[in-house]
Amino acid sequence: MEVRSSELVTQLVAAALVTASIAAPTTPQPVFERDVLPIFEANCVRCHGPKLRMAHMDLSTYDHVLKGGESGDVVVPGKPNESRLYQKIQKGLMPADKKDALSSEQIEVVRKWIEAGGANIESAGSVEVGGTR
Ligand code: HEC
Repeated sequence: MEVRSSELVTQLVAAALVTASIAAPTTPQPVFERDVLPIFEANCVRCHGPKLRMAHMDLSTYDHVLKGGESGDVVVPGKPNESRLYQKIQKGLMPADKKDALSSEQIEVVRKWIEAGGANIESAGSVEVGGTR
């Protein structure tokens, strides 16, 4: 009896795992260089770039983004709501001149990127989508 019921548990766990992996989103998480940097380049770098570092912040490279601005870190990996960069765009405060304001899709890309940990480029393990070949 003992053995059989633990077998059943194992099967249930296995079934749950299969279901979870099927239900997982197939779109990869946003990564900095492919998804986020183009947004910064189009909308932010004219004020936060190597030439004009407003608020002492340069958003033109990953390393500089992680360095943050005059008030410290602007990205807190995993916590968009605590990331000043996300707060600013979510409230519509950046771009400061309101020219080329971000679309809600672009804001969402940045949110997801921070939420997923703020990775630079896709790590080898997460590229696999499976079942497409
Ligand atoms: C027209 C110029 C301009 C543009 C474009 C612009 N910013 Fe700014 N940004 C500023 C100025 C000026 C400040 C400092 C004053 C402030 O914090 O409001 C600032 C401050 C910031 C800060 C706070 C930095 C700190 O350390 O306090 C963040 C984060 C920020 N900007 C993000 C962005 C993002 C993301 C974009 C692009 C979507 C962007 N900005 C576009 C002018 C700009």
